[in-house]
Amino acid sequence: MKIIRTKNYEQMSRKAANIISAQIILKPNSVLGLATGSSPLGAYAQLIEWYKKGDLDFSAVQTVNLDEYIGLTPDQEQSYHRFMYDNLFSQINIDQRNTYIPNACAADLSAECKRYDHLIKSLGGIDLQLLGLGANGHIGFNEPDEIFKKGTHVVHLSLSTREANQRFFSGIEAVPDRAITMGIFDIIQADRVVMVASGANKAEAVRDAFFGPITPKVPASILQFHKDFTLVADDEALSLVGEYI
Ligand code: GLP
Repeated sequence: MKIIRTKNYEQMSRKAANIISAQIILKPNSVLGLATGSSPLGAYAQLIEWYKKGDLDFSAVQTVNLDEYIGLTPDQEQSYHRFMYDNLFSQINIDQRNTYIPNACAADLSAECKRYDHLIKSLGGIDLQLLGLGANGHIGFNEPDEIFKKGTHVVHLSLSTREANQRFFSGIEAVPDRAITMGIFDIIQADRVVMVASGANKAEAVRDAFFGPITPKVPASILQFHKDFTLVADDEALSLVGEYI
């Protein structure tokens, strides 16, 4: 595991964008695993800026997103389909047909989960997976659990996750209580994994995930095993582990 320490969110975003852009330059047809939430937004904005300057070409890139809320349609503002379209896909030259997000409106959700796992395999796996970190240690929507769930699955969101995400909704009651998420094995099978973490509200999760035992109770802790995992985190997110790095 590598840790890149930055002063603040802006620096964190720039470092993460540098890693992603190096990946695209070295392998123009990369399969990128993408995340939503506030943490990767700055990196997406930086990638858009470099694309507009002519430094990046997304025409051969394919993307698979981690997760989607069940109960929202793709055009609804809080859906992760809309998030990705608004904050990245609509502003770069990616072929929209090469962007994949779980279909949480599927009539048969367990068939959709299987389809998504097959899709990832059929793309040849993920070259670089970008992750945020839930305050309770979740990745994608893999919530603290007794076991590590392997493949794409339907998950019941914890109250703490719904509370953390209610800022994007009119209130907690509007936050869906279920989602489809890639599983832990989907994530750790990526060749490279890059996580962005910023702010004091992530400090406990960073400490527990990367300086404590590997346990499904802290899903991100599995990344300690990964052969090419980089945590890009700012001073506040690293404030409880500063003496160890
Ligand atoms: C959601 C997403 C995660 C994300 C997490 C943290 O639960 N499903 O992929 O990492 O939120 O979000 P934020 O970056 O906004 O703190």
